[in-house]
Amino acid sequence: MPPGIDLSEDHIAAATELVEDTRTAFRTGSIYEPGLEPESIDIAYCRWLLVHLERPVSALAAVWAALKPGGSMVMEEADVSAVYAEPHCESYADMRDVALAAGNQRGVDYTGGRRAHLWARDAGFTIEHVSAYHPYYMDGPHKGFWNWTFQEAGANLVKAGLLSQENCDSLAAGMSAADSASHSVVAHCRMHQVIARKPLA
Ligand SMILES: C[S@@+](CC[C@H](N)C(=O)[O-])C[C@H]1O[C@@H](n2cnc3c(N)ncnc32)[C@H](O)[C@@H]1O
Repeated sequence: MPPGIDLSEDHIAAATELVEDTRTAFRTGSIYEPGLEPESIDIAYCRWLLVHLERPVSALAAVWAALKPGGSMVMEEADVSAVYAEPHCESYADMRDVALAAGNQRGVDYTGGRRAHLWARDAGFTIEHVSAYHPYYMDGPHKGFWNWTFQEAGANLVKAGLLSQENCDSLAAGMSAADSASHSVVAHCRMHQVIARKPLA
């Protein structure tokens, strides 16, 4: 079975600890140069990766090279612009905008999920299926996911000059208020799914 690959040693360690199927191995590496034998794998899957990359089509070209002719590529990529709270919460709207600006500053596009099928087409794949789902919550442990994520990333956003510490704290407080309001729904990123195939030679 081909390995699960990620750039981060910490993430590989966490995945290795979590996995229950002992046939699944993980290792560090870059999707641009995954170190896989050409035309050696039947199916490739990636999630939440390409929106973090400056060259998503080049990354998919590397996946293409590792796939056997007729092999499948499955991906799920996010569009951060779909985050909202209803009733409207200005802090959620501002957090979304700060996240998108952070992506622009890093040379990546966190709305990219909506273009996932175009990236696949540009890398030479035949698109077989597209779909999208949009998680949203009125209660439960996942409702505040983007609030926690923002709080984790807050120090870097302040360091990057995208907002002050005071703004950061105020956004977190506003999102927490929406999270704990029983009548409020919080919508997460819309997730775009693509199933594509490398044509038979
Ligand atoms: C939002 S996380 C998604 C993690 C995991 N795929 C998931 O769906 O839970 C983005 C991941 O992309 C990884 N990453 C960033 N650039 C990469 C690259 N060039 N090659 C491989 N992984 C990369 C990061 O280390 C990080 O773990």
